Amino acid sequence: MPVNFCQFRTFVVYFRPVILNQKGYVNFMISTRAPVSDLFEHLQTFRFREQPQPAATQIDYLQLGDGRYPRFCNEFWTSRQRQASSLHEVSYRACFKPQLPRFFIELFTRPGDTVYDPFSGRGTSIIEAALLGREVIANDVNPLSEILTAGRLCIPEMADLAQRLREIPHQREATADIDLSMFYHPETEAELVSLRDYLQARKAAGQEDALDRWIRMVATNRLTGHSPGFFSVYTLPPNQAVSPERQRKINARRKQTPPYRDTRQLILKKSKQLISRVSAAEKALLAAAAETARFLTEDARFTAMIPDDFVQLTVTSPPFLNVVQYAADNWLRCWFNRIDAQEVGKHITMANTLEDWEAVMGAVFRELFRLTRPGGWVAFEVGEIRNGAVQLDEHIVPLGIQAGFRCAGILINQQQFTKTANIWGVRNNREGTNSNRVVMFYKA
Ligand SMILES: C[S@@+](CC[C@H](N)C(=O)[O-])C[C@H]1O[C@@H](n2cnc3c(N)ncnc32)[C@H](O)[C@@H]1O
Repeated sequence: MPVNFCQFRTFVVYFRPVILNQKGYVNFMISTRAPVSDLFEHLQTFRFREQPQPAATQIDYLQLGDGRYPRFCNEFWTSRQRQASSLHEVSYRACFKPQLPRFFIELFTRPGDTVYDPFSGRGTSIIEAALLGREVIANDVNPLSEILTAGRLCIPEMADLAQRLREIPHQREATADIDLSMFYHPETEAELVSLRDYLQARKAAGQEDALDRWIRMVATNRLTGHSPGFFSVYTLPPNQAVSPERQRKINARRKQTPPYRDTRQLILKKSKQLISRVSAAEKALLAAAAETARFLTEDARFTAMIPDDFVQLTVTSPPFLNVVQYAADNWLRCWFNRIDAQEVGKHITMANTLEDWEAVMGAVFRELFRLTRPGGWVAFEVGEIRNGAVQLDEHIVPLGIQAGFRCAGILINQQQFTKTANIWGVRNNREGTNSNRVVMFYKA
């Protein structure tokens, strides 16, 4: 059912609960009594305080049938804003900036509420929610998602990590079961295979602990990349593993052979970097979230293990139309973690047409409506495709409404460097999509 904003605008603005977050910033939380008018007021009067001359929010309306939905455009967050936690510095294709989920977590939840991401990826929403003292549920059909996220909820002591790395048995002559010589020096390969075997043995014996999960997460991130901080010879960035044939060509063109890399030292170095800006209070919040965290590897349409009326906020960005080949990008990460990349690839939504994509997303919204608690929210980030010719927010609004949600509007985050661009068709750097457009729904 469309929301009539003119009617809501005449309502009295109710009391808004205000709480301080860990860093002492005021958290705004939308009231559950007048959610739409509160939100309208908040976004309309929003000023990005960290800018010398904060801009006013520009509002236009999306007319769809009888429904009229406000689109709020402003600089609501930037990548520079309150520098994001160092813990996010793991790469994953099409991930969003931590400031995006943080904005909605602070807006729509309180500490202790449950935050869910059905397309969790590297776990940006989940890590942010945990850092803010929320409970978390992560889902992604790609099992790498849990590996990349769960490992970061329990932050190890560096001394314990160094000790564990020393204890891992090293098989000097070990070679991989596939040819990886175009990526790794033979000694690096032996270290990598030893680590892989150790992690597998621990898991199979039910002995995998937080330190093992951390090591697995960091090693998965260090497998290939374009600097000496990675285990491999120079190749593409770590989330886009190239095929062995392509790597041979890169090696020939660059006249390079894989140099030795000390995998333990690189794991320690990356660990220090990841932990560098995590405070003791944040470590405690992450550990608390880990105790109740749930990780699912389901198709987002079918998550029966999440109870009805359970989640306060879903904040997510779905797979887009055919733009990212998650399985092909991740074949080496899958090998290291003994995951069947082809099998995973079969379950990843790769819609060829807008109609197919809408059919999947419609079913996702029906599932989200079931598991969202009354008064709860969904912040669904989509982009534009085909250079702005298709704006997915216009396609998402009816899907959410058909599932039972009310649409409270669309938020377009406009960063300063794009201010001169057409604000309703603003571009960003994410491959295949051109803007941060977030459709906001609530369950009445
Ligand atoms: C755009 S990415 C999400 C990135 C995430 N926001 C982050 O910051 O890392 C979309 C994710 O959806 C997952 N995915 C694709 N189809 C899915 C499905 N049907 N059910 C659940 N997850 C799916 C992909 O594996 C991918 O990780």
